[in-house]
Amino acid sequence: MSDARPVNIGVLASHTGTNLQAIMDACKRGALPARVTVVISNNSQSGAIARAAAADIPTCHLSGKTHHWDGALDVAVAETLATHDVQIVVTAGYMKKVGPVTRKRFPVIINTHPALLPKHGGQGMYGMHVHRAVIEGGDSETGITVHYVTAEYDTGPTIAQLPIPVLAHDTPETLAARMLPLEHELLVTSISKVIDTAAPR
Ligand code: GRF
Repeated sequence: MSDARPVNIGVLASHTGTNLQAIMDACKRGALPARVTVVISNNSQSGAIARAAAADIPTCHLSGKTHHWDGALDVAVAETLATHDVQIVVTAGYMKKVGPVTRKRFPVIINTHPALLPKHGGQGMYGMHVHRAVIEGGDSETGITVHYVTAEYDTGPTIAQLPIPVLAHDTPETLAARMLPLEHELLVTSISKVIDTAAPR
């Protein structure tokens, strides 16, 4: 097999950054023929920014504070991704909607969501809000969905889904803790699948 060059991944993240860490670790151990070339966050104090900085990966804080108009933020995100030669974008716990300029310039954008979409998706449904809705809804099953990003939150074509049973005494917290490592795994295998099916490099 030709030693094709690694695929450049740009990650958009707002929070702890454990999904970002899973991608960086997978690249490092050779599980992904890729490298993270930039991390963009709308939260300058996010764990994602700290994790990227610790790995000497370029970071950029782009948010409503740095760009008061969503259209300008969208252009800034697209420009930053382009400057770092990004080929695939991953939104991993990213709270902003990806704008039209970015989606046009980077057609391959992958998102991870901690539920079996279309259940428990859409604006405001992220992290613990999702697990709380699952428990309060009395669902016997939840899961993880990795999908392509489109104009609306959590509505793009599914790349992979993993159903996960809700246990009798689960709380949102125990559910989140059990799901997170499985989410990391599914995200990495989904990115690998997308790279394998994308145009040969
Ligand atoms: C993950 O379940 C992600 O889907 C959600 O927040 C959780 C933690 O994400 N948005 P991370 O640790 O910031 O990657």
